Amino acid sequence: MSTVDKPAEDHGAPEAFEDPGLPYHRPRRADVDEKAEKRAERQVAALFGISIVGTVVAIGAYFAIDMSEEIDSIRFANMAIGIGIFLAMIGIGLGAIHWAKTLMRDHEMVEERHELRSSDESREGAIQNLKDGAADSGISGIKRRGLLVGTGVAALLAAPLAILVPQLGNMGADWNTKKFAHTMWRKGMRLTRDPDGTPIKAADVTIGSAFHVIPEGLNDLEHGLIEEKAKAVVLLLRLDPRDLKVQEGREDWSFDGIVAYSKICTHVGCPVALYEQQTHHLLCPCHQSTFDVADGAKVVFGPAKRPLPQLPIAVDDEGYIIAQSDFHEPIGPSYWTRLKNTSDGLSDSTEESSH
Ligand code: FES
Repeated sequence: MSTVDKPAEDHGAPEAFEDPGLPYHRPRRADVDEKAEKRAERQVAALFGISIVGTVVAIGAYFAIDMSEEIDSIRFANMAIGIGIFLAMIGIGLGAIHWAKTLMRDHEMVEERHELRSSDESREGAIQNLKDGAADSGISGIKRRGLLVGTGVAALLAAPLAILVPQLGNMGADWNTKKFAHTMWRKGMRLTRDPDGTPIKAADVTIGSAFHVIPEGLNDLEHGLIEEKAKAVVLLLRLDPRDLKVQEGREDWSFDGIVAYSKICTHVGCPVALYEQQTHHLLCPCHQSTFDVADGAKVVFGPAKRPLPQLPIAVDDEGYIIAQSDFHEPIGPSYWTRLKNTSDGLSDSTEESSH
């Protein structure tokens, strides 16, 4: 007979195990030593205090650090806000755990198995347990644990601010749309390659090619590089001059089939960067607005409501492509043009471009 087939009694094993009962209850130091209890209370309060400090750091960093200039300052601000939010959350979490482990009542609870539907008695018992839990947490004894409850409530109330303030602060943002009417393009400024800033000769632009362009000197800006680049980026393309439908009033805005258009989509401002050489179509990847470069970058498909603004270009004595002026209309989404500030700015822009 195999070992498995042997009756249990052959090994002397009992048919059922006796209930071993609860293990020996070992009281925690805070249960028996008032000093230890006070120390634990201070530790929990300190953790909640760290959470409050984290919230202050996050909000302070959001307001104090200028995020509009360099990439480094944006990185630093994000890091400071992140550290603040981390401290705000971890302080509350660790404080709650430490509170539960050291100060809440530490006694074993036994609950007998019962039918799925609770009896009336057990329901009443559940309510009583909740009341006991509230009593155990010390919340009801505010006078006795005033510091702990006070810091805990303050930390809980303050922590959401670490997330909410930066989010809500951004909603106020900058609604001065006048700035969109201007870019840094000026008369005589060379068109340069993005990102290295090397100037482009007309001879480099072969038929069918497309260049991503930034204004000369953009990379030397000490302030506002990102904002200026976001407005001034241009696509430079060369078509067979016979394919180009020159727009009225723009007869001298191109050079031997070379044209330059704003890269900022007139729908909601994504970079338009997909060029289909055969059809002369520029496609915006966000919502598929399609512009016909051969026909003044007019919209042939999609939600954009107006053509891409054209940058008037010429060629200087050394053969480099230069701008004749700034754009003659605001770049980007059309709704900017409907705002009063922008129409004011457009007239400013036109004045400046003629300088
Ligand atoms: S942003 Fe270009 S189609 Fe919507």
